[in-house]
Amino acid sequence: MNPDTDTPDTGNPDDAAAVTSHTPSRPIVIAANRLPVMRTDEGWVPSPGGLVRALLPMLRTTGGTWVGWSGDSSAAIDPFHVDGVDLRPVPISAEEVELYYEGFSNDGLWPLYHDALRESTYDSSQWDAYVAVNERFAVELASAAPPNAVVWIHDYQLQLVPKMLRELRTDVTIGFFLHIPFPPYELFSRLPWRTEIVEGLLGCDLLGFQRPMGTSNFITAAQQLLNVDAHHDVIENPDHRTRVGAFPISIDVADVEEMAAGRATRQRMSQIRARLGDPEVILLGVDRLDYTKGIGLRLKAFAALLESGQLDPERHVMVQVATPTREAVEHYQDERHQIERLVGEINGRYSRIGLPVIHYLYQSLPFDELIALYRAGDVMLVTPFRDGMNLVAKEYAAAHIDGDGVLVLSEFAGAADELTDAVLVNPHDDEALQQAIITAGEMHRRERRERREGLRNQIRKSDVQGWADRFLGVMIASADARDAAND
Ligand code: G6P
Repeated sequence: MNPDTDTPDTGNPDDAAAVTSHTPSRPIVIAANRLPVMRTDEGWVPSPGGLVRALLPMLRTTGGTWVGWSGDSSAAIDPFHVDGVDLRPVPISAEEVELYYEGFSNDGLWPLYHDALRESTYDSSQWDAYVAVNERFAVELASAAPPNAVVWIHDYQLQLVPKMLRELRTDVTIGFFLHIPFPPYELFSRLPWRTEIVEGLLGCDLLGFQRPMGTSNFITAAQQLLNVDAHHDVIENPDHRTRVGAFPISIDVADVEEMAAGRATRQRMSQIRARLGDPEVILLGVDRLDYTKGIGLRLKAFAALLESGQLDPERHVMVQVATPTREAVEHYQDERHQIERLVGEINGRYSRIGLPVIHYLYQSLPFDELIALYRAGDVMLVTPFRDGMNLVAKEYAAAHIDGDGVLVLSEFAGAADELTDAVLVNPHDDEALQQAIITAGEMHRRERRERREGLRNQIRKSDVQGWADRFLGVMIASADARDAAND
């Protein structure tokens, strides 16, 4: 696969020459809020998720390093190794978890960056903790990075790190990828520390977003706030250039396909269908329990269709998996209460003994169980109000190696740029959402199959390894060019 020709245009004309192999030629250091491992009874094991699966093998071959939080603020953890990868825990105190993680990152930036779907908290003690934790990451990176390394920083929790690191180390090449949307200037400009955030990100040599819209929103913010010169995908800073572009993330397609094709998965899928009472149509939702995901809206659309008789509780069953997340943040507690009240109301009205019409799981399910659920789901509902990418949509597309499943996908998920064979919908429009569910449920078999094949072809064109190769390829090419200019 040549990821470069297959993924949407980044606006970087010389990407093709820049793509690297799976073993980059320079030392790589990754920084993310969380380390890529979890502590279990058997010790530290890699965390689930495509990002970790794409980047860990690369770090293993280059002897690379990952800097991040262990998720545990009760004890300081010394650097350690897992599978040959150097892991450097950054300590975060219980108070900082409240101020930097739950507060500034998840109660300030997260809602603002997602269309201001909830009110953000702007609090200077939270900001101070954000600065302090970002500074700690920068200092750790400066000490961990070998000479001339490529340092790749991830996501909204660490937006100040690029500038801080550049001040400490001029030899390293710095990249940043934002996994969530970058908002339009009208929203972003509400942030009291908007200039500091843009300055922080401009410390990069390469700055990546999920969608072209994120790139243009960022360029507008930089022009408005700092009056920078921007030509196409390059922003001029006094001492360096920042390239910006869209690099849509993906999943480990081969891994999902392999799991989906396994015998155990097929057996589990049949078992799930039988346990649900062998309904004609299983509607499925799989999300972190986050107010950006539109879970309540989807439940209401289901209820309205049962009420109008367009769906029949004897034939249609919904399964909603809601993975617990950020439970200490009030907006998340409110969202959970609303969803659980709705599930109770709908089940109370339409269920029969032993056959609830909604099966609601507030749990984190193992990967194999999710894949079996994807295979069992006839209509997959991915209806966020706003989402950077949405990898569940991509996993569903990859897991449907056969069968007649249809994906209903919000236009406001980054995945909608690529998965054009889904039934695309504006989730703010109740009637359109209900219609999309009916269209998907009643779709002619031939069209389902054509769309399924279309989705599989689309998803196979861009997997997470290709995404990482492309991003690192551009960074390494720019590091090489800088070295050549200095020779
Ligand atoms: C989103 C963010 C990630 C974050 C993940 C889980 O995907 O982009 O940065 O790690 O949610 O959230 P959590 O707060 O549990 O790390």
